[in-house]
Amino acid sequence: MKIKWLGHATFEIQTGNKHIFIDPFITENPKSPIKLDDITDADLICVTHDHFDHLGDTITLSKNTGAPVACIYELGMHLQEKGVKVEAMNKGSFTKINDILVSLTLAQHSSQFGNPVGILLNIENKMVYHAGDTSLFKDMELIRDLYQPNVAMLPIGGYYTMGPKEAALAVSFIKPKIVIPIHYGTFPILEQSPDSFIKEVEKISPDTKIMILEIGETTTI
Ligand code: NI
Ligand code: MN
Repeated sequence: MKIKWLGHATFEIQTGNKHIFIDPFITENPKSPIKLDDITDADLICVTHDHFDHLGDTITLSKNTGAPVACIYELGMHLQEKGVKVEAMNKGSFTKINDILVSLTLAQHSSQFGNPVGILLNIENKMVYHAGDTSLFKDMELIRDLYQPNVAMLPIGGYYTMGPKEAALAVSFIKPKIVIPIHYGTFPILEQSPDSFIKEVEKISPDTKIMILEIGETTTI
């Protein structure tokens, strides 16, 4: 699969001819490397919660492409009222949507419509865990025990989420093969550099590969 970081918490994952978007925050993202109109193909949009920097362009993107939006039930009902095609799920286990296995999982954060979530995607028999916005919580070990994530995308920017120290401990709970730090540098209030996260992870989780992506960069896993 190809994993492209579009800055902040936004990813495009391509597997075969399927395109999956997570938290498509593009138009209002000062660091976005693309414009919304550049996206012509989407098969699934996963949204962690309704804050503007995550819900982002979800409504327009779904309407433009016909891709359903997988999200927590209450947010799903809100989007459905706006004419969006939704998979209004809840946390618990995997569901197949457009041939893509998706699960919502715990995140400790806030939101207006329903609970915030993390996203698990089982793609090409590899487990991808996008933590959404969250503080550190011990049940990340349960995600490890159940699913053994190959890739974990974790917020490190502080103020709204874990900072570098907490996110580094999250890595030791999740033990992913690869960690991609996200949700930093977008706004002045967030941590601007992954340096202290890198130092801490190297110290306590030497077996995890830290992947620092440039905004707009694609990695193949
Ligand atoms: Ni948030
Ligand atoms: Mn956020």
